[in-house]
Amino acid sequence: MTQEAYTALIEDRRRTLRTQLEPILADSSRFVLEIGCGHGHFLTAYAGAHPDRVCIGLDLVEDRIQRACRKRDRARLSNLHFLQGEARLFLEVLPPAARLTALYALFPDPWPKLRHHKHRLIQPDFLRQTAAAATPDCRLYFRTDHEEYFASSRAIILAHPSWVLTDETWPFEYETVFQQRASSYQSLVAIPRRA
Ligand SMILES: C[S@@+](CC[C@H](N)C(=O)[O-])C[C@H]1O[C@@H](n2cnc3c(N)ncnc32)[C@H](O)[C@@H]1O
Repeated sequence: MTQEAYTALIEDRRRTLRTQLEPILADSSRFVLEIGCGHGHFLTAYAGAHPDRVCIGLDLVEDRIQRACRKRDRARLSNLHFLQGEARLFLEVLPPAARLTALYALFPDPWPKLRHHKHRLIQPDFLRQTAAAATPDCRLYFRTDHEEYFASSRAIILAHPSWVLTDETWPFEYETVFQQRASSYQSLVAIPRRA
């Protein structure tokens, strides 16, 4: 693909996400986001338990989003939305008034090879972008079964000016597909650092 075609494709994806987000956030600018929602098990349960919260699940893979939407429709949850898209692109196109009240990243791809670490979700820029859209009482919930990814994410959050780790307990449990397969896992909870 030429650079020109790639730029046009990304711009098209940005436009699509903006168009999809507009009606979702029309009545409330506050929302709960799950990045890498897969087939939507966690967020469907979460949205059912919190009917007053607008919930958005995001995943790169079209088929997973379609399955998640079917789950949502079967459960008749009008507060739940699933969008196909890339996390950073999604954060870039958020309307300025949009505010994250909780952010879940459950078993994100660990990209174990050193040369692939740049693809990991938990990175300084991602933390900056999410903090910019977070309410003061927002929480970032991160869970993984990959020990090295856990340790490096913990270190990145500890060193970051926008988020602070807390020992608060996980507020809502519902087993994801990857959680079911994992023999063990570790979790982190972070809150936005006060200015
Ligand atoms: C390992 S799976 C975990 C799925 C689910 N959270 C679970 O625990 O079963 C990671 C998911 O994140 C999605 N994903 C990976 N990178 C992403 C990105 N940059 N933006 C959005 N979704 C992403 C993948 O398509 C995949 O569905």
